[in-house]
Amino acid sequence: MVNNTRRASLNGANGHSPGSSSSSTSNGNGNGGGQTHSNGNGNSNGNGHRSTLTVSTPARANRNSLRYANIVGWGMKIPDTVITNADLEAVVDTTDEWIRSRTGIQERRFASEREGVVNMGFEAARIALDRADILPTEIDLIIVATSTPEDIYPSTACKIQNILGATKAGAFDLSAACSGFVYALNMASQAIRSGSIDKALVIGTEVNSRVMDWNDRSTCILFGDGAGAVVLSGGDDPGGMLSCVLGADGSGADLLGIPTVGRASIPEGQQMHKLHMNGREVFRFATHVIHESIIEAVEKAGLKLADIALIVPHQANQRILSAAARSLNVPESLFYSNVHRYGNTSAASIPIALCEAEREGRIHPGDNIILIGFGGGLTWATAVIQWQPVPAPASRGLNYRLSQGRREVVYVFAFWRARFMQMFRRWEAKIKGSPALTANIREPKKSERERERDRERSATPPAPKRELNGSSPKAEKPEPEKELERR
Ligand code: UT7
Repeated sequence: MVNNTRRASLNGANGHSPGSSSSSTSNGNGNGGGQTHSNGNGNSNGNGHRSTLTVSTPARANRNSLRYANIVGWGMKIPDTVITNADLEAVVDTTDEWIRSRTGIQERRFASEREGVVNMGFEAARIALDRADILPTEIDLIIVATSTPEDIYPSTACKIQNILGATKAGAFDLSAACSGFVYALNMASQAIRSGSIDKALVIGTEVNSRVMDWNDRSTCILFGDGAGAVVLSGGDDPGGMLSCVLGADGSGADLLGIPTVGRASIPEGQQMHKLHMNGREVFRFATHVIHESIIEAVEKAGLKLADIALIVPHQANQRILSAAARSLNVPESLFYSNVHRYGNTSAASIPIALCEAEREGRIHPGDNIILIGFGGGLTWATAVIQWQPVPAPASRGLNYRLSQGRREVVYVFAFWRARFMQMFRRWEAKIKGSPALTANIREPKKSERERERDRERSATPPAPKRELNGSSPKAEKPEPEKELERR
């Protein structure tokens, strides 16, 4: 799936002119003309290139008011409990040396009993909202990417919406395994750019430690828990998602998954609610798809690989990132990595990596960055994003502190609102009883012919009931006494 409404190009030292990219752009409405916007911040990207967006008019939007969905806030939450490779040696037949050399992982975080996808997702969202300086009540849409929800439904997104007090927001979970965050980011960006919403919260949150099969040593040593979130906001400042490639190949569905309630039977070697993976096959798929989809996404954005300041990939295995860097012929340092600290946190790994990359000064305003996810489904998702400047909280002064206080008030209010609503529903059920008593179901008026048919039907004996599987019930055997009497 490709974002066709806009293409962007960098006007940089690579000699790639904006004109060339706009000429290759089709905006779907026959409008061949592109519009050129400077990103307005005067900053150059990490490669020393000044960036200029060349943008074609979205098909449905007003030509004079282009809409962009910029990332204006981000946050992460990781549990405090650190599980080192040495800790795993005590419970699994493995060694620190094997895990480090095969995966690059040194430690990961596990959620405590009190922690879960909901409160970690909430904490990440709260930090992201602070950074964006936006009230939860301003959010229109919450999408949560997770493969380890507390329930199939209600969604994790609804539970987080409740704690945040995001009373205006629609909320749903998105299932695309480790690609889920980028899928969700694309959905939210498109909703903003189409004009249907203005602000969205996209969260990736996982408690993989609860779905580990501790008898499968090649898989259980890989995963960890955590959450990350971003806030997207609509506006006129050029930036945000420049292109996106979403992909799926269900023929590889058996390679990686967590069987759950709808399964009639579970193949041998798998367990209900436990993660299984064919590591070698997924490794092969991952290295191939990273290469292909990065090339495709960069091309669709009208850019070149040299225009990319940083790639923030799903953190699965350092060897996958090294192999991808080799095949793309870019330095390994272009791929941001924190897999040694957190292991594989599935849908949470990209937003967590994004937060840490920004904190470490690896992302600057005007930079073009790539987010790339891959995993179960099989699925993959690659987005090219132009990062926009967001003022640091420290520079925002008194107004910021006041609005931070207002956010805290919203959270407290949300807590009491949820309790009040639960009490109110119980009270209503007690006082009013069944709503069916007052529901007025009106019989549709029937014609004389229909009434005649009904009379005929009620005169004929009912047909024998059918079994649930569709077969007719076996003919009732006459009771021996009746049979004797008849004879
Ligand atoms: O988030 C979704 C995306 N996920 C991924 O991208 C994961 C992709 N896959 C991988 O990262 C790697 O395939 C693994 C890390 C899972 C496995 O690494 P590998 O190099 O492919 O190992 P392998 O499965 O081929 O196993 C090699 C050997 C085997 O022993 P033999 O048969 O050669 O004697 C395994 O039994 O390593 C053994 N082994 C272990 N030894 C010590 C497997 N797991 C372990 C272990 N400790 N934990």
